[in-house]
Amino acid sequence: EWTMENFIELQVEKIREEVKDRKVLCALSGGVDSSVVAVLLHEAIGDQLTCIFVDHGLLRKNEAEDVMKMFEEGFNINVIKVDAKDRFLSKLQGVSDPEEKRKIIGNEFIYVFDDEAEKLKEMDYLAQGTLYTDIIESGTDTAQTIKSHHNVGGLPEHMDFKLIEPLKTLFKDEVRRLGEELGIPEHIVWRQPFPGPGLAIRTLGEVTDEKLEIVRESDAILREEIKLNDLEKDVWQYFTVLPGIQSVGVQGDERTYNHTVGIRAVTSVDGMTSDWARLPWDVLEKISNRITNEVSGVNRVVYDITSKPPATIEWE
Ligand code: XMP
Repeated sequence: EWTMENFIELQVEKIREEVKDRKVLCALSGGVDSSVVAVLLHEAIGDQLTCIFVDHGLLRKNEAEDVMKMFEEGFNINVIKVDAKDRFLSKLQGVSDPEEKRKIIGNEFIYVFDDEAEKLKEMDYLAQGTLYTDIIESGTDTAQTIKSHHNVGGLPEHMDFKLIEPLKTLFKDEVRRLGEELGIPEHIVWRQPFPGPGLAIRTLGEVTDEKLEIVRESDAILREEIKLNDLEKDVWQYFTVLPGIQSVGVQGDERTYNHTVGIRAVTSVDGMTSDWARLPWDVLEKISNRITNEVSGVNRVVYDITSKPPATIEWE
């Protein structure tokens, strides 16, 4: 009989058999897939696992701290944290094209790994959160959990690891159930999709510290209110964007000329198409009031009522 418990037992056994006394590296993103892989690996091989977590400074409020706390304190897993905020931001300086921003961020990840290469040298394996859907999409079919692999996506080419992909027979909802079974906190297991380039593609045009701060703070308010009103499971994704428009307002007795924040909340099944979420007006009102009161530099909040297509979910 196939149960989640059996699955864990079987994978733990397989991983131990393959790895023996060797060392495994796992790159954490803070998302559900890499978190589940890390905890599963840790269950199998304990201290032979080292995780690496690159903080690119484009995560949501408190996210980096939460990830570190969960793995180090909650699970006692070795994590190398690389604080790479400054180098990502300086590379992004003066760049406003969305695809160019994505490319710079992707490349910078590789350079960061390269700079850590000395520390990672003793690792024999790389554990990845590849899912069944990723395999179907990429068209490579292998039923094995462990295979040797060259040119792992996102890593420098000369870093030659063998690959461990314990989730590759699972769908997303199964990975979430596995995560729950492994004791991973609910907010990670049910985390909404979050793009790799993070807040950089929600800060339209050039990314600066000040703009990121507005996106990060307004997004935190939105998430808090969605949670308070128990709407998390009704909405596929919800976030704020900074379009980079300034407009006239009046706050106190003063005329202002400040930023507009956009709220994006969508329903979807797979992210391929989506509809805008019919959030209750009183919730939107509260979010709008809080953003203009609590986030400095913002005097206007708008709600995106576009479906995909013709719009995309993200604004860049
Ligand atoms: P769009 O904006 O294309 O987004 O409707 C569809 C889904 O993909 C996510 N997305 C990304 N994820 N890197 C990622 O890892 C990216 O560059 C990226 N762009 C969009 C988006 O959040 C949504 O879930």
